[in-house]
Amino acid sequence: MDTRVVGIDPHNIDHQQLKRAGALIRDGGLVAFPTETVYGLGANGLDADAVGRIFEAKGRPPDNPLILHISCAGELDRLVKEVPQRALTLMDRFWPGPLTLIFKKSYLVPETVTAGLDTVAIRMPSHPIAMNLIKYAGVPVAAPSANISGKPSPTRAAHVIRDLSGRVDMIIDGGDVTVGLESTVAEVTGEEVVILRPGGITLEQIREVARDVALDPAIEGDILRGVPKAPGMKYTHYSPEADVIIIEGHTQRVVAAIERMAQQLQEQGKRVGIMATEQTEALYRHGLVISVGDREDPSTIAAGLFAALREFDALGIDVILAEGIEQKGVGLAVMNRLLKAAAYHVIKA
Ligand code: TXA
Ligand code: MG
Repeated sequence: MDTRVVGIDPHNIDHQQLKRAGALIRDGGLVAFPTETVYGLGANGLDADAVGRIFEAKGRPPDNPLILHISCAGELDRLVKEVPQRALTLMDRFWPGPLTLIFKKSYLVPETVTAGLDTVAIRMPSHPIAMNLIKYAGVPVAAPSANISGKPSPTRAAHVIRDLSGRVDMIIDGGDVTVGLESTVAEVTGEEVVILRPGGITLEQIREVARDVALDPAIEGDILRGVPKAPGMKYTHYSPEADVIIIEGHTQRVVAAIERMAQQLQEQGKRVGIMATEQTEALYRHGLVISVGDREDPSTIAAGLFAALREFDALGIDVILAEGIEQKGVGLAVMNRLLKAAAYHVIKA
């Protein structure tokens, strides 16, 4: 398949181009596009065949349901059975933006989208290209992250091109995304709001507007606590080719431990990558060091994390030693993704 790459400036949108991309989606094609979180791979969410092609292109397990993306809240009603009050409160505060809500699905949503579940995930992205593309498609857009299943999610068009070129009809290059990791997924069908996947909207932010908020125990960094409720959370995910080891503890001790391990691994002939932060990058003498962001501001680390994992792969690194960060704010989502990339391999310094 020939993949067309189209550059669109999010600050000065070429609406003719986006209208053509929207029509392509409506007519059953696959279009990758930027959202504020990560790039998505979009198809007509009401067309089971088109949705099936998403699973093929990504090599995605068929039991992992997709998110439907909408461009205005009015589109919600026909896709879901009911909109609980707590959902309205969250939508009011966080839509458009990186929050996905799980509702009871209506008959209109194909089973391929929900992988046979009776619930459906819905999100309204805030990125201007995503917004307009969905509007022009005129249908809800089913879109997972635009990576090959298991790889880190794409935060720039080059990542999508690398993974999906030849497998999709169009890739819209709208530059780097801003959040850098996926939306928060929250279930609103029961008595409390249950966060199934931490993401761009933090637990703390949700607690500001909702009374009963719980974390799915399976995401608290402990895989032994049960099967996650978001099917996608059970897969080893976000994994680069290299082995990833997380080192946690006081920053000084973490740096010392990483430095020691890097030296030992290098002596064994391994190519070592160090995922550092602005505060620590200058302290390492061994390994190939990439700073992902500012330790004091986890949102900068979120923005740099997936690109860094991909960069280490491009450099042929065998082992990535990553500094752990505090699981507060977006740091919870950062560590959730990093723990998966590391297959929960953590060393306390
Ligand atoms: O930020 C994002 O959410 C990006 C952009 C493109 O919007 N999309 C994304 O999609 O991350 P994906 O498919 O990579 O992740 C969707 C997650 C998976 O963990 C999936 O299992 C979960 O949402 N999910 C979808 N429908 C669900 C449902 N009905 N019940 C529980 N979990 C669901
Ligand atoms: Mg994904």
